[in-house]
Amino acid sequence: MTREGLPPGPRSALPQLLHMRDPFPYMRELATKYRSPVTVPLLGAPPIVLTWTPEGIRTIFGADPMSFGSAANEALSVILGSGSIFLQSGAAHRRTRKLLAPPFHGERMRAYAEIMLNAAERWSEKIPRDTVAPILPIAQGITLDVIVEAIFGEQDPARVAALHERILAVVAAFNPMIATFKLLQRELGGLGPWARFQARAKELHGVMLGLIEEKRSKPGDDVLSLLVAARDEDGSALSDREIIEQLLTFVIAGHETTATSLAWALYELHRAPDTLARLRAELAQADREGASAEALSKLPYLRAVVDETLRMHPPVPMITRKCVAPIELEGYSLPAGTYVAAGAYNAHCREETFPEPYAFRPERFVNKTFSPFEYLPYGGGHRRCLGAAFAGFELCVVLATLLRRAEFSLAEPKPVEHVFRIGTFGPATGVRLRRA
Ligand code: HEM
Repeated sequence: MTREGLPPGPRSALPQLLHMRDPFPYMRELATKYRSPVTVPLLGAPPIVLTWTPEGIRTIFGADPMSFGSAANEALSVILGSGSIFLQSGAAHRRTRKLLAPPFHGERMRAYAEIMLNAAERWSEKIPRDTVAPILPIAQGITLDVIVEAIFGEQDPARVAALHERILAVVAAFNPMIATFKLLQRELGGLGPWARFQARAKELHGVMLGLIEEKRSKPGDDVLSLLVAARDEDGSALSDREIIEQLLTFVIAGHETTATSLAWALYELHRAPDTLARLRAELAQADREGASAEALSKLPYLRAVVDETLRMHPPVPMITRKCVAPIELEGYSLPAGTYVAAGAYNAHCREETFPEPYAFRPERFVNKTFSPFEYLPYGGGHRRCLGAAFAGFELCVVLATLLRRAEFSLAEPKPVEHVFRIGTFGPATGVRLRRA
């Protein structure tokens, strides 16, 4: 598409290319050089019109859902399947959200608290002492176990571990190149990367089909049982394939985002001794009072630490939408076909909303809330993250458990950069810590 009528912005995609690994500095640079909205050229893809003011973001999140297409590109369908909620739009998307939302409502969190506490305790045993090691693999272990247990209702440690391994095998076999280039999607006698990916996916699907069968005869109160029992308006059930696609979406959307946020929280806390001391004091007081996991998730300073971490390190820094109808954005009439984005990271760095935005200050969230157009780590509007309450709860419970079970010091001599990992941005080094 041409740039005619689009807002000003850099002419070349070269800066984007140079900042491919860590685009956060480039996003900051855009906000200092241009006013919102800005047109950002991308290499090999149409430009994106990026806004970061509350007015611009309100326009995107408040628009008629029918003005936008699906949230993901075709590449994602290779790993999730074309029926994933990420790839749906319009009425089909609305129907799936209605179906999937109930198990993630705030009041259901008590049911997941034990799973989260146990996973955090189990994995904290695996953190080596007196050794420098990245914390991200531990965080990933916790969040993947939590999602597997909560979604599949699977509690048997051996079966949780087996599912965990199969999921990681699919993720490891996934290569963005095979997703992007159809030419590479060939079996090549069972030897190429596509064949390897297909083989791992088939193994995982086989295990999931077994679980679906089990839930048909013996339903529980997990997400899988709910999907198995779900009926459409015409009384028809979801097919096995549809169930598998939505389950995989939860696994992929829900574990890496939460894991990278945990790692960032530990990174920021160990760079700010006074903040860490204040949090430890709050946790010690909660221990004296015998606080439950649910009570932990309501501790004001712990919540604020989580909120501040997601402000500075949103795993999804731009919330992109493809317009299928024209849209008026901050004085520009954008035609159908334009890609627009709510700049979460840039909105989180606005001096007007968050003074001294590059300082880690959880205090700014104590007794203060921000509008969904100023603070948007979970996106917004008709596609706002379905797992937001689950993730916020999990981050509090797991962070509190790790800090209660271990003392750490940070072993990062230089500031840690962001890096792209399976759809989200996380810490490039995995955040190296030394456990005392
Ligand atoms: C810190 C953790 C998390 C962050 C920062 C996060 C962030 C996001 C963002 C930015 C979106 C896109 C929203 C939009 O387009 O407006 C999203 C969508 C989604 N997230 Fe999360 N997420 C997190 C954890 C989770 C968890 C734990 C689950 C599941 C248990 C989950 C399930 C989903 C689903 C299903 C969608 C698709 C919603 C739709 O397209 O309608 N997320 N998330």
